[in-house]
Amino acid sequence: MRSIIDIMDLTVEELDELIACAMDIIKNPSKYSEICKGKKLATLFFEPSTRTRLSFEAAMYELGGNVIGFSDSNSSSTSKGESVSDTVKIVSCYADIIAMRHPKEGAPLVASRKSDVPIINAGDGGHFHPTQTLADLLTIYRKKGGLDNLTIGLCGDLKYGRTVHSLINAMSRYSGIRFVLISPKELALPGYMFSDVLDRKGIPYEVVESLDEAMPKLDVLYMTRIQKERFESADEYERLKNSYILDTEKMKLGKSDMIVLHPLPRVNEISVDVDEDPRACYFFQALNGKYMRMALILKLLGLGNFRAKEEKKEYIKNRSLVCKNPRCITSTEQELKHEFYLADESSNTYRCIFCESEQKLEK
Ligand code: CP
Repeated sequence: MRSIIDIMDLTVEELDELIACAMDIIKNPSKYSEICKGKKLATLFFEPSTRTRLSFEAAMYELGGNVIGFSDSNSSSTSKGESVSDTVKIVSCYADIIAMRHPKEGAPLVASRKSDVPIINAGDGGHFHPTQTLADLLTIYRKKGGLDNLTIGLCGDLKYGRTVHSLINAMSRYSGIRFVLISPKELALPGYMFSDVLDRKGIPYEVVESLDEAMPKLDVLYMTRIQKERFESADEYERLKNSYILDTEKMKLGKSDMIVLHPLPRVNEISVDVDEDPRACYFFQALNGKYMRMALILKLLGLGNFRAKEEKKEYIKNRSLVCKNPRCITSTEQELKHEFYLADESSNTYRCIFCESEQKLEK
């Protein structure tokens, strides 16, 4: 039984397989319309969602299956204090596969350790959102004809934007990729994304504050929302919220075949006038999310051309460290044992397996 918590749980070959499956679903929907007959998807959304939850549900219905679940944790026994572990153990008695969104980082990993059925992470706080990345990849693939040799600009909240981190991780495995990182200093990409991904893999990148300066270079512009709900200071949010606004004037600076993506929801960072521009692909991206979620459900259930594979990550572990991140699931699941893995042997750096916050040990 396999769960998907992080986009890096999938190899490049598996990403290619999922894209091929989604393309076949788009071409031959009737071939798939009863493939999940008798199967149930549970959508457990402890945090608000429009696209992810509804596209998962539409995906399962279009595969001929059924859906159960909740979209408000107050309508579940979580409101009476039930843990994530117990909730998932129970739901896995009723469903064949679970898609789960939770505000605490690492909650879907906890769920996957308790569940008897596959768990799909539908977003855990500011941490991972692998199925958004699947939607992004299919959109780039369909619009640019492939995933190699692209200059990708990421603009806005690169600090808290979980979709940005997942997209960098995923695209850094293709060849000829170059990133332009466009953000105010306060919302810059976290240091570990440079050390663990960009610098480690030798991927070319530029860090800039000006969107105007970046525009002419880009094949893909990935806009993001400044995420109010992740800020600890309301004043800082107010100061930064209007950092970037993509409007029709700015679009004139972009290449004629550039594409604009945004995971949505947007607030004001893309003016509605831009929607009329053929390069605006964010609504198409939301549609692609449904096809990739259909492909992923098939893969994890071992249906269609997929055969379910067991995959376990092996880590050098440390169980004496305690995670101090207040957003980590360890801060609320009282029975959960804290666990760290060795991320960098040379500096003796460990990371929490649930939220990836770092601790260095003296040698
Ligand atoms: N992109 C995305 O995750 O949207 P929702 O929050 O509406 O699911």
